[in-house]
Amino acid sequence: MANLVEKTLTQAIEQRRATPSFDGVPVPATDLKKILEAGLHAPSGYNMQPWRFVVVSTPEQRRRLRGASFNQAKIEEAPMVIVACGDADGWRSGDLEEMLRLGREGGMTENYAEQAAMTIPEYLGNHPNLPAWLNKQVMLAFTTMMLMAEVLGYDTAPMEGFEADKVAEVLKLPLSYQVVALLAIGHLKGQEKFNGGRFSMARTVFDGEYGKPLRF
Ligand SMILES: Cc1cc2nc3c(=O)[nH]c(=O)nc-3n(C[C@H](O)[C@H](O)[C@H](O)COP(=O)(O)O)c2cc1C
Repeated sequence: MANLVEKTLTQAIEQRRATPSFDGVPVPATDLKKILEAGLHAPSGYNMQPWRFVVVSTPEQRRRLRGASFNQAKIEEAPMVIVACGDADGWRSGDLEEMLRLGREGGMTENYAEQAAMTIPEYLGNHPNLPAWLNKQVMLAFTTMMLMAEVLGYDTAPMEGFEADKVAEVLKLPLSYQVVALLAIGHLKGQEKFNGGRFSMARTVFDGEYGKPLRF
């Protein structure tokens, strides 16, 4: 069960920690749906939404996914792991048409639609680094899901420790799919992880140009 009172986004952001260990209490379907829908609301370049997600919840698939992920125990402990992928071929196998159809429904002008229909295949067909492009888009949806899960009172663990070819085999992914990251969702078991802290703004944020500190 999620908490009956949702956290604010501020609380979720401040209180979130990468969860080291989960109890196995399941996530109800209504909450899973909210989490997934939140992710699907994320923005993406040209609204191309090249993300795909596989929800892994059966004990057998979690066991196999763990085997493809350097034996990370939390994958099997968590009631659910969302495997976030990018589809390198989505734009040429129907996504472009669907994006335009939805856009027109929402008021996209014909002029914009015609431009997009020409520009997007040109852009993605010649992209110098499609894996990086996919990563960028998919991580936005992934992060949105993670924060929605935290807002609903769940604990989460993002993971990049996996062998992509093995994950693809376990999940029977098409060849055009790139595995981007894993998100375990459930409830913390035992001790919370230490708080690793964050670099200061003086180190990470600049005002207008590199090296100039932003002052408040
Ligand atoms: C993209 C990404 C991949 C990560 N991969 C793993 C992982 O495979 N295994 C793991 O135990 N933690 C993983 N982490 C968790 C990080 O170690 C953790 O987020 C970081 O130490 C900061 O701690 P905090 O999230 O509790 O603030 C990952 C985090 C991110 C964002």
